[in-house]
Amino acid sequence: IYQNNLASQRQPLSYDDEQEGLEKQITIRFSHVVAENTPKGLAAQKFAELVSEKTNGQVKVDIFQNGILYSDGEEYEALKRGDVEMIAPSFSKLIDTVPQWKVLDLPFIFNRASQVEAVFAGQTSERLLSMIKDNEVKGLAFWSNGFKQMTNDETPLLEPEDFRGHTFRVMPGSVIEKQFRLLNAYTVVMPFNEVYQGLETREINGQENTISNIYSKRLYQVQQHLTISNHGYLGYAVMVNKQFWDDLPKDIQGKIQEAMRETTLWNMKEAAKMNDQQLQHIKNHSTIQIYHLTEQQKKEWLQTFQPLYKEIEDEIGHDLIELIKSPPD
Ligand code: LMR
Repeated sequence: IYQNNLASQRQPLSYDDEQEGLEKQITIRFSHVVAENTPKGLAAQKFAELVSEKTNGQVKVDIFQNGILYSDGEEYEALKRGDVEMIAPSFSKLIDTVPQWKVLDLPFIFNRASQVEAVFAGQTSERLLSMIKDNEVKGLAFWSNGFKQMTNDETPLLEPEDFRGHTFRVMPGSVIEKQFRLLNAYTVVMPFNEVYQGLETREINGQENTISNIYSKRLYQVQQHLTISNHGYLGYAVMVNKQFWDDLPKDIQGKIQEAMRETTLWNMKEAAKMNDQQLQHIKNHSTIQIYHLTEQQKKEWLQTFQPLYKEIEDEIGHDLIELIKSPPD
């Protein structure tokens, strides 16, 4: 009787429902190196929710944060091998693979939030993503973190001369390294999850990063001085393994892309809010000294970086630099 009741209550399945019922679950392993409570960490979670919602649970995104699967230096190769399906490293770490992205790392190339939004969410982002030439990789979007600031443990960093002789952690990427060379500083390339220890043991004196990374990794607790310089922009290239992508049914690709578009817009607003709130928290709950670069000081930094602009212009061309400076909406 019980079985009969159940059978009579059941709605007839449509062809599509039957198809979905038979389709197997698809899992996207998404690896990244930052904490959960960061613009990228939250965007990854938002993306996972939206994908699950839009595909009725057929596609599941498993997130591996804090570099628990792969550190910065390893994740791109892991993506190419198909050991994970998705990563979102900062574009700085990929400039050996996509040399044109060097322009994005030029100090002070980004000056305002509306410019960042136009580059990362507008048509320029598609042009930039199409520059990825590795066959195993497809670029899906750019996500934001925010403007980078400088921290140091000895002198406040206000004039270019203040950098002389200090050692800074840099993420992989030749433009950032050259930026510090022009300031007469030394650099050590170090994975993100080793920076706290590097500062604590004084293997390095300082580093550059966004407030959200300085906050979530507690770097402000092992540094004396924080300069709000907004000299660079930290953004992420979200990429998927190409073979995995090509094997997905077209309708699933569409839903993932829709989820990605919504996440990208959400992330941009969330990232700005988060960096502001966390700066406030650092101000209220730590002894680090905070300085704001004056217009005059910024001019001096910019002057110091001119050889780098010249070098990248010679290598990549004037047009791309201009496009990033004044992107179409
Ligand atoms: C860094 O290495 O400092 C950043 O790229 C980490 C990140 O992914 O935000």
